[in-house]
Amino acid sequence: MSQSYQVIARRYRPKQFDELVGQQHIVKTLTNAIESGRIGHAYLFVGPRGTGKTTVARLFAKALNAKGGPNIHPDDDDISQAIMNGSCMDVVEIDGASNRSIDEIRQLRDDCQYAPAQCTYKIYIIDEVHSLTQDAFNALLKTLEEPPRHVKFIFATTEAHKVLGTITSRCQRFEFRPIPEDLIAAHLAEISKKEDISATDEALRAIARLANGGMRDAQSILDQMISFCGKKIDVGDVIGVYGLASEGQIESIISKMAHGDYSAVVKSVDELVAGGCDLYRALCDMQAYLRKAMIESFESGYKDFEGKRLSSEQMMRMLDVLQGAEKGLKTGLSEKANFEVALLKAVEQSRARAINTLIKELDKLSNAPAEVQKKNSGTA
Ligand SMILES: Nc1ncnc2c1ncn2[C@@H]1O[C@H](COP(=O)(O)OP(=O)(O)OP(=O)(O)O)[C@@H](O)[C@H]1O
Ligand SMILES: [Mg+2]
Repeated sequence: MSQSYQVIARRYRPKQFDELVGQQHIVKTLTNAIESGRIGHAYLFVGPRGTGKTTVARLFAKALNAKGGPNIHPDDDDISQAIMNGSCMDVVEIDGASNRSIDEIRQLRDDCQYAPAQCTYKIYIIDEVHSLTQDAFNALLKTLEEPPRHVKFIFATTEAHKVLGTITSRCQRFEFRPIPEDLIAAHLAEISKKEDISATDEALRAIARLANGGMRDAQSILDQMISFCGKKIDVGDVIGVYGLASEGQIESIISKMAHGDYSAVVKSVDELVAGGCDLYRALCDMQAYLRKAMIESFESGYKDFEGKRLSSEQMMRMLDVLQGAEKGLKTGLSEKANFEVALLKAVEQSRARAINTLIKELDKLSNAPAEVQKKNSGTA
């Protein structure tokens, strides 16, 4: 591998709006704004890491600074390229976490007044904007409300709740969402093809699952798997390296829980631990599996787990226990014991509620003859 190897996440940064995976609501609003000439002066991009905030900020800056005026399909000229690789002097990227003091923001405020050197707009992209100090925020407010005509601000943050209301209310806010697993897996498949890597669908799905909705994380994991496996990646490799439970294992343990087979559940936990599985991850995967099963069950009212039907309500109870167990998993003496107890409690909860439902139904039945009698005597 050459010394100048660039990681996949950087090489595959989308260069056009239509290359973005997911975030269609954002792309649509921004491209409409450009086409109709209704461009705001301050934007706030919020959302989890690696979901496209910086990428969209650069694409937007590039579109605004297109030769001949804002255009969603700008030429791929030197300026466009400089904006995309973060080296254009009129598109200033500032890391709010390390340039957070009032002096630095005052400097920015003063710089704003000068016209852009090459572009139509001077665009400030301030990352992790929630890290700015209170004084720094205050120094920015006036400029943010009425910036010079040639200035646009794009703020990005992973922690929207920490951004002061005074900033948020002066911006157009865009919510970046976690990218769905199937879209991530499909994108990884495209990348693998271009990189001449043969990775099974199951392996790519496992990577997508690990990435929790972040495309950068998914691409970094793929990079790491390529270093580990070379040109051929199998699901077993991903599971081994990251301590994932396989989809089959998750399915089987939930089925055992559905059957209320306590000892089989305990045995499965032993197997997961022996295989080096990350139990926290397994708990999240089980939740995702149950959630999906529950949604599927809404129409028929139940889901069949290898011959054992669970009602939507029973799955909801199980899910509730598993979600509650997340926080406490790593506390106390043994993660394994916490995990095991959580699973058994989930089984118990689903069964206990089922008995409650049964009692209610019995109650109804025992009242029924009286009602039937009443009805009959009324009609006689
Ligand atoms: N929606 C997406 N579609 C395609 N690729 C994406 C998307 N989001 C992120 N990526 C990939 O991940 C890399 C990082 O994305 P980006 O820098 O835009 O994330 P971010 O949201 O700004 O993350 P952070 O919060 O960590 O700054 C990009 O170079 C690109 O390869
Ligand atoms: Mg970013």
